[in-house]
Amino acid sequence: MQYVGSQVLKPTHDGCIIKHDGSIIKSVKGEIEMENADLSTLDGVGPAIASKFRSAEITTIEAIIVTPPRELSEKTGVGFNTVLKIVEAARKSSGLGFITAEELWKKRQEMLKLSTGSKSLNELLGGGIESQAMTELIGEFGVGKTQICFMLSIMAQLPLEKGGLDGKVVYMDTEGTFIPERIFEIASGLELDPHETLENIFLARAYNSSHQCLLTGHLFKFCPENDIKLVIVDSMIGHFRSEYIGREHLAERQQKLNSLLHKLLRLTEAFNLPVVITNQVQANPAQFFGDPNKPAGGHVMAHACTHRIYLRKGGQGTRLAKVIDSPSLPNNKVRFKITEKGIEDAKEQIKKNEG
Ligand code: GTP
Ligand code: MG
Repeated sequence: MQYVGSQVLKPTHDGCIIKHDGSIIKSVKGEIEMENADLSTLDGVGPAIASKFRSAEITTIEAIIVTPPRELSEKTGVGFNTVLKIVEAARKSSGLGFITAEELWKKRQEMLKLSTGSKSLNELLGGGIESQAMTELIGEFGVGKTQICFMLSIMAQLPLEKGGLDGKVVYMDTEGTFIPERIFEIASGLELDPHETLENIFLARAYNSSHQCLLTGHLFKFCPENDIKLVIVDSMIGHFRSEYIGREHLAERQQKLNSLLHKLLRLTEAFNLPVVITNQVQANPAQFFGDPNKPAGGHVMAHACTHRIYLRKGGQGTRLAKVIDSPSLPNNKVRFKITEKGIEDAKEQIKKNEG
């Protein structure tokens, strides 16, 4: 179904973003005029081209800048050379091109940090989960990846001074493990209005990898329109692992995964938001000593993610988090625990033989 406000426009079966209560809120395409018509201010974009871009859900100059021209051309049906001119105009209009390191420094000052609820976990992350970056939570089943994602979905709604991002959340659930009752419990434990908290989380249930790609594509339009300040993908790789079985499909799987990860990375830059993804572990038969598991997804996953956090179970029901790859964070580890209030500090210190 397509809705604008409460008006049903026409039924479709394409990928829609749905709310936690199961109602579909938006898949606006085609004829509908956007409030945000800044594309037509670009050189070379007349009403016909603007309408093609809108139909492909490319509705902001930011989205044009960060999407590869070939992909723009394929999605919109606009000729490649025309697309190149439009991209050039978009880049000029936003002043992007060469920037000085000082300008980059300034851009990074706009970076926001989202609190996890645990002081020690925040310290490990250099203050919290960063915007303009993709953070990967890795670990075996039951370690608490989804619990951290629930906590972040709630924390992101808090004002900046309370460690939040003052906005709403998209939660892409690929495994059907999103449990609204748990969000309700954590929000109540934190003395927040649980109904309002649930209202601010847009759930996107992805049923297979191609649906996941489709929904990810929608985010470039959905995020700026709905004040989205955090995007979660739980889990990133589940569908890919179950659909592409065997070595002969590995190259294709990795290529698709890579393209999806880069879309998410572009999203972090275009809208100054954090993307948090979860990843499973797989057995590493070559490992004789220590942890026999390694993150799934190989080099593609390792290269795309900005910060990689490895989670393990610790003593007395606690959890250990360790930075295993990051351009800016040292490879430290901390302990935290999962409680009724979500994620909290653990009192116990890390012992030498742990982690
Ligand atoms: P997979 O998705 O299976 O890979 O696992 P995951 O890493 O996402 O695990 P998840 O976040 O679902 O963590 C499940 C664990 O969190 C449980 O084994 C519990 O230890 C803990 N947990 C879940 N709910 C609660 C709760 O309400 N209270 C407390 N104290 N712990 C909880
Ligand atoms: Mg999970």
